[in-house]
Amino acid sequence: MTDTSAEKWVEWSRDHVLPSGMPLAMFAKNGPPASSITDEAHGLVMKDINGHEVISGSSSAVNVNLGYSNPELAQAAYDQLLKMGNGGFTPGGGTTASIEYAYKLAQVTPKHINRFMFVHSGSEGNDSAYKIARYYWSVKGKPDKFKIISRKLDYHGLTIGAMYSTDGSAFHNNFGPQPYGYLQIPEVHCYHCPYGKIYPGCNIECAEGLGDAIEKEGADTVAAFVAEPIYGVAGTIIPPAEYFPRIREICDKYEVLLIDDEVMTGFGRTGKYFAFEHWNVDPDLMIMSKGITGAQLPLAAIAVSDAVFDGMSTQAPFIHFHSTGGHPVCCAVAIKTLEIMERDKIVENSANLGKHLLDRLNEMADHPHVDDIHGLGLFAGFEIVKDKANRISYDPALAIPKKFVAASTKRGVTVRASVSTGRIQVAPPLVATKDDVDNIVDVMKLALDDLALD
Ligand SMILES: Cc1ncc(COP(=O)(O)O)c(C=O)c1O
Repeated sequence: MTDTSAEKWVEWSRDHVLPSGMPLAMFAKNGPPASSITDEAHGLVMKDINGHEVISGSSSAVNVNLGYSNPELAQAAYDQLLKMGNGGFTPGGGTTASIEYAYKLAQVTPKHINRFMFVHSGSEGNDSAYKIARYYWSVKGKPDKFKIISRKLDYHGLTIGAMYSTDGSAFHNNFGPQPYGYLQIPEVHCYHCPYGKIYPGCNIECAEGLGDAIEKEGADTVAAFVAEPIYGVAGTIIPPAEYFPRIREICDKYEVLLIDDEVMTGFGRTGKYFAFEHWNVDPDLMIMSKGITGAQLPLAAIAVSDAVFDGMSTQAPFIHFHSTGGHPVCCAVAIKTLEIMERDKIVENSANLGKHLLDRLNEMADHPHVDDIHGLGLFAGFEIVKDKANRISYDPALAIPKKFVAASTKRGVTVRASVSTGRIQVAPPLVATKDDVDNIVDVMKLALDDLALD
């Protein structure tokens, strides 16, 4: 590569990349904006190909928990590559790196969760978990128990299985019909309750919706219910405290496995190691990714409870794998991630700084168009609404959230706008400081002024 000017990067991208999330005809004509191509990133700061720097208020896809280009994680990857860049592929085998990581992960997951399988992404993790749930029931003599229930607003990834448990409104178009066996119940979203109720006088009807759906389908056909503990892609929407305990009861009543998708919320994001800990609910399976390596390398884990493992244990082999699942270099980085989290009290920082972030965001509650501000740990969100008194959102065609993100980015801070709800999500790396959080909120306030909403 001789010419590495910004124009060249845009041109090569325009001519050779199949991008996601953009109209392809427009992309093939103009290429991406130069500001969307990152050339370097360190700590909280990303630099584009024109040398413009922005502070990440969203940790990329809420995954760069320990900062960009963390030198200790880089060193762990390098050392492991020199020691063993690949460890072969033997049924039931593994590498010392993947086994050490499984052992160490078991020290931080709930007591009843001690076994892990490793894949590469959150989507693969979800697909794998659904297969495990089906396998579990099948070897227990109930092969008809295969349906997977999720909820509106859920995001579980975009491989086929994960996609059809993800809310379809933004993600299913043009990808063929929904395969049989995936269904969704209404969301838990108190600000825009799908049942038209006002919490707490609602009897958590959204949780009862699960029981209704299982009854309708027949409990002997439902394998699992999968949920994000806190909606992430939908913009940090936190359920009421009673929700997941009630969901657990319903799953137990109908013998349906509860799958906890901690891909975004795991590894300290919400001020606990895993978000289900906020409600003392024990899942049957867990899916983790993103923060597992601080997103410096691709890794995901599917965790099964002791009871699920016992149920799966028969004389026949359980067959589900990927050629580079549990890659030793990714596992070495994941081990180092746990060490750093412990040493630098990352979960505590997320919890404490998260309170400050929420206090600062709550200063915006006076704004005539900002509402439904929530956060747990360094995982917060709010909605820019048209009419606060009646909880009426802006017409999506006005693209207010997108304009807000553009204004904030122009001022030097990137945050996310949810494609499904338009909510603004604030989730800086978990190594952020109080000054970083203050700066992010100060910039967002100015960006809000820039919109000049009447
Ligand atoms: C809760 C949740 N599950 C699954 C996924 C999919 O993960 P990936 O993009 O790594 O496939 C995501 C990604 O944002 C997520 O937030």
